Amino acid sequence: MQIRDALDADLPGILDIYNDAVQNSTAIWNDKLVDLDNRRAWLAERREQDYPVLVAIDDHEQVAGYASFGPWRPHDGFRHTVENSVYVRSGQRGGGVGRSLMQALIKRARELHKHVMIAAIESENRASIHMHQQLGFIHAAQMRQVGCKFGRWLDLTMMQLPLNRTPHP
Ligand SMILES: CC(C)(COP(=O)(O)OP(=O)(O)OC[C@H]1O[C@@H](n2cnc3c(N)ncnc32)[C@H](O)[C@@H]1OP(=O)(O)O)[C@@H](O)C(=O)NCCC(=O)NCCS
Repeated sequence: MQIRDALDADLPGILDIYNDAVQNSTAIWNDKLVDLDNRRAWLAERREQDYPVLVAIDDHEQVAGYASFGPWRPHDGFRHTVENSVYVRSGQRGGGVGRSLMQALIKRARELHKHVMIAAIESENRASIHMHQQLGFIHAAQMRQVGCKFGRWLDLTMMQLPLNRTPHP
């Protein structure tokens, strides 16, 4: 398996994984399926902002997963903090893809001198909470019933990873 920056050719694979998460999980709190143009615009925006989009490519040259980070909140004072997202194709989970993507993503964040990485995770997503804990993220907060999907309220677990010890911004 290879981890590298996403190419335009990876967009159909990214689209599949994204729409599967929309349709079948509470990992992402969107209800609407998107098309290729939507993912193309997302990738272009990330590139323009100098934020990475990484893909894991399996032995069949298929996208097994992807990970990215973007701004956490829009105001200037939050510019040293990023929020990550990570998705592994259903059927390829539990084999180390998510961890490898996240390790590469964290390295990128450190290279960009980001200070904190935030993960906002649906509170019943044990796999994601466990993986982030293993990567060094600590529990920051749990926010009750701040979302909804599939006709029920969702709680949000906030986790954070310190990326450097820089004493002043
Ligand atoms: C969460 C996700 C990214 C993890 O990626 P993965 O490739 O399946 O995970 P890995 O194989 O790299 O495992 C990482 C750690 O999580 C653990 N883990 C994986 N699946 C698990 C599960 N279902 N329950 C509990 N722990 C699990 C692994 O055991 C491993 O921990 P360990 O080092 O203590 O053994 C992946 O399952 C996924 O894409 N899920 C659907 C989308 C999603 O939830 N994205 C995150 C949104 S916040």
